[in-house]
Amino acid sequence: MTKMMRLKKDVKEKRELVNITIDRFLPRKDEYPKMVHKAIRYTLFAGGKRIRPYLAVTVYQLFGKIDKKILPIAAALELIHTYSLIHDDLPDMDNDDYRRGKLASHKIFGEDIALLAGDALIIEAFKILNTVDVKSKTKINLIKEFAEFTGDMGLIAGQAVDIESEEKSVSRKTVDFIHQNKTAKLITAAVRFGAILADTSEEDLRRITEFGETIGLLFQIVDDILDVEGSKQKLGKRPGFDAVHGKATYPKIFGLENAKAKAEELKNKAQTIISFYGSKAEFLKKICTYITTREF
Ligand code: IPE
Ligand code: IPE
Ligand code: MG
Ligand code: MG
Ligand code: MG
Repeated sequence: MTKMMRLKKDVKEKRELVNITIDRFLPRKDEYPKMVHKAIRYTLFAGGKRIRPYLAVTVYQLFGKIDKKILPIAAALELIHTYSLIHDDLPDMDNDDYRRGKLASHKIFGEDIALLAGDALIIEAFKILNTVDVKSKTKINLIKEFAEFTGDMGLIAGQAVDIESEEKSVSRKTVDFIHQNKTAKLITAAVRFGAILADTSEEDLRRITEFGETIGLLFQIVDDILDVEGSKQKLGKRPGFDAVHGKATYPKIFGLENAKAKAEELKNKAQTIISFYGSKAEFLKKICTYITTREF
């Protein structure tokens, strides 16, 4: 098996574990009020890659942990991510009709229910995080970080500036701010949570944080590139969307070739950072290649 095949197998195995965990925490789809619970499950189980949960679990394992305490954290990360996608597609945000190869939540359930399903996912994520089997000091720290990385100084800040920057000529600094906040913060939270739960040293946490920030920015640059070059069939969402909406993206600000060069540079940087851990970090090193060469 090649390294990439081994990685894909590991991703699939962890995705299954995460899916079981998410399923256990969520209300059934016919639970009253049905529309909200149906909408929650509709997007959550529409075939997401589960990259953020994967990163949390794999960093936890990097530090020698083999138990399942990380799984609720992995689930909480995916719930917040899914809320951000449901809201991102709403007409008042990106106004996108497709997500994960299916109609967007609001196209099926209406904007009102999609909004509420997203809201419920945020709250549910915090409830799940509160169940983590760890000493209270660590739990409070995790919840505090989760709020900071996803709140108005994190993911929401990135989304706000993304919307505000449509059709404008923006600086390199602004596009970096958008990408670092709307996407890299949650990815950074994912890797940090793996390290925090494993009770690593400050030095390890610093290294893992830098790794997360690097692959987080890389992830969004590749998302931008795929919006230019990807196929609707593979992406499961409409390509060419960013250009039509005048979105502040790497290809728009730097040109497609420079955006690709930047992605390559970030991939190499991330791999150098994580190579500190040697062969134990094989999957984390390979996932940098996967993030860069993925087709959806
Ligand atoms: C899409 O995220 C939105 C971004 C932050 C770029 P993913 O590419 O992880 O989407 P899913 O979860 O696999 O659908
Ligand atoms: C995604 O940005 C960021 C969040 C959803 C937080 P995009 O708007 O580029 O994501 P896609 O392309 O719709 O998945
Ligand atoms: Mg958006
Ligand atoms: Mg969008
Ligand atoms: Mg995009």
